[in-house]
Amino acid sequence: MACPDCRPLARLRAGSAPEHRQVTGQVIMVVESRGSCEGVLVRTAVVTGAASGIGLALARQLVAEGHRVHLADLTPTDVLAEELGGVPVGVDVADPEQMAALADTVADVEVLCLNAGIVGAALGTPWEAPPQEWQRLLGVNLLGVVNGLRAFVPMLLANRRPARIMITASLAGLVTFPRGGAYAATKHAVVAVAEQAAMALRDTDITVTLLCPALVRSGMSDAGDDPADIAKAALAASRAGRFLVLPEEWADAVRLRAVHLLNGEEPLPPEPRADR
Ligand SMILES: NC(=O)c1ccc[n+]([C@@H]2O[C@H](COP(=O)([O-])OP(=O)(O)OC[C@H]3O[C@@H](n4cnc5c(N)ncnc54)[C@H](O)[C@@H]3O)[C@@H](O)[C@H]2O)c1
Repeated sequence: MACPDCRPLARLRAGSAPEHRQVTGQVIMVVESRGSCEGVLVRTAVVTGAASGIGLALARQLVAEGHRVHLADLTPTDVLAEELGGVPVGVDVADPEQMAALADTVADVEVLCLNAGIVGAALGTPWEAPPQEWQRLLGVNLLGVVNGLRAFVPMLLANRRPARIMITASLAGLVTFPRGGAYAATKHAVVAVAEQAAMALRDTDITVTLLCPALVRSGMSDAGDDPADIAKAALAASRAGRFLVLPEEWADAVRLRAVHLLNGEEPLPPEPRADR
């Protein structure tokens, strides 16, 4: 009988789905070389914002890839943890002490997804969003990521083992849409923090991946891509050591923004490539 730590791996070994069988092969190789319970290596992941949308999809994908996932969210994740064989964690990412406490309870993190985020109620111009909303969005979207890095990076460096950090920003952090309240500024700032983290950790075993999706179906949006597809692609990119994950049809808009800025032209609303 596997212990709770090993339940996800035990499930993979059963190999009920074809993709699980493929992963099972990798896990068995690891099982033979290192072990922590009944000869099974427990690979640990932490996902913030795991109760819904992209975070939930990342958590599901990480479980499918053999990780024991700590499901960190303001919303309770107990039922989900039971379903996935993960660990429920109640946390407000905007609170540095709560994030530090989370890091203290998790040893040996291999994948850290700093993903929790919110949109405000005021979706107009920046000056239409009230001060409290600016504070809340900066607190969750920007400081939530900073708090996660402050809590986990020293531990990851001390572990001296390969680890992957995935930071969810947004397409709205790489181009600027005309409206959206405080959201865009927080996401542009998250992009800067992720770039700084990647540069600072370049000569270490820790990689940083910046996830910048366009619309994704989630608690935040009724329309857009399937979060499962986004999570699968993002984790594959992170395994491959890729920094930016951006929908291809938006690449030209990112280039065009830089050209407009350099030419001293007025900013234009970004558009996806027309052939999509
Ligand atoms: N859905 C989109 O179209 C889209 C596009 C680009 C980027 N994003 C980004 O993806 C990330 C995930 O959003 P989503 O679309 O899955 O939305 P979602 O609302 O489905 O999920 C967000 C999760 O974060 C949690 N959360 C919110 N504040 C928190 C806090 N202070 N502490 C802990 N958890 C908190 C929520 O409870 C929720 O479970 C966000 O950073 C968002 O900005 C979303």
